Amino acid sequence: MDIAIIGASGYAGGDLMRLITLHPHTDLTCATSRKLDGTPVSLDQPHLKGFVDITYTNPDVNDIDADVVFLAVPHTVAMQYAGSLHERGIKTVDLSADYRLPQGIYEEIYGVTHTAYFDAPYGLPELHRDAIKKASFIANPGCFPTGAILAAAPVADLAQTIIYDSKTGVSGAGDTVSETTHYPNVADNINPYKWTAHRHLSEMQLEISRLESRASVHFTPHLVPVTRGILTTAHILTERPVTKDEIQMRYRHMYRDEPFIRLQTPKLASVRGTNFCDIAFEVEDGGRRIVAVSVIDNLMKGAAGQAVQNMNIICGFDETEGLLFPAAAP
Ligand SMILES: NC(=O)c1ccc[n+]([C@@H]2O[C@H](COP(=O)([O-])OP(=O)(O)OC[C@H]3O[C@@H](n4cnc5c(N)ncnc54)[C@H](OP(=O)(O)O)[C@@H]3O)[C@@H](O)[C@H]2O)c1
Repeated sequence: MDIAIIGASGYAGGDLMRLITLHPHTDLTCATSRKLDGTPVSLDQPHLKGFVDITYTNPDVNDIDADVVFLAVPHTVAMQYAGSLHERGIKTVDLSADYRLPQGIYEEIYGVTHTAYFDAPYGLPELHRDAIKKASFIANPGCFPTGAILAAAPVADLAQTIIYDSKTGVSGAGDTVSETTHYPNVADNINPYKWTAHRHLSEMQLEISRLESRASVHFTPHLVPVTRGILTTAHILTERPVTKDEIQMRYRHMYRDEPFIRLQTPKLASVRGTNFCDIAFEVEDGGRRIVAVSVIDNLMKGAAGQAVQNMNIICGFDETEGLLFPAAAP
């Protein structure tokens, strides 16, 4: 399969290149960047030297020809590519937010007009594998929603209220330098941001509601001084008292055949650089609060890894192809 990555010079694009070059059924034939047009990829991303030997290009959307295209560009940019790729039937995984939400909600949350809307399945394989299999254009989920939804999915129908508290590494903000991500502002520090209205909240609310849940869903993210990873604590207040045994059965049952979900104590270091999501839970005395914690690598299960998992599904490959490796520890 020939693969094109639009936005290859970014953080998600870089991790996509790392995965595609190691995947047994794919060749990277196109890596785009406007700023680095004509520059060898390995000059910009030296960790890929010896693995990626092409140069960045900046082709017109209609000249992009590949078996699979990954859109690793900001929201509103992805939609400028998506229409042409969709019309030409080119298999595409979009890592941006442009196709994750119904058009009206998207336009309200992101404050823009969608210029090329069509329906695409939400690319969380653990919940939507059958829909993904039938599609050629996939909306890859956001990084926070991936960890948050997976943490609560087995018990969402029992919940009255779900409060997500997430800690994220700095690569979640992409490779553009800003005041927020400037080293002295991040190091030895923890910063809450968008306390009550982060854009990813609507993805979480939508997906939790699709799990036959009437829960109200809330979310507060914090920036912590690590490069990769998201740890999410879900406080799940239940409609009735629950027992540890019943909750354990639900988690084990829902994730029994999931290759990338591991039910074990979540630690960022255990998933860094991998496509795994580690989850554990406890039930508070009295059974009215479940505390479920998940960890993912925001650039892997939260972006590039999940995108390759979706590519594997739409191309009919084994879902784990090119993705089954452990983190480097310590
Ligand atoms: N970082 C994460 O943890 C994460 C997780 C999940 C999803 N995502 C999503 O994945 C996408 C990429 O994120 P990122 O963190 O990799 O961002 P990034 O590091 O800022 O990279 C953005 C990429 O898009 C290209 N680009 C920007 N504007 C463009 C335009 N108008 N036309 C064509 N190319 C353009 C950039 O290269 P040039 O400027 O040189 O063209 C660069 O290659 C975003 O939609 C983001 O929301 C990111």
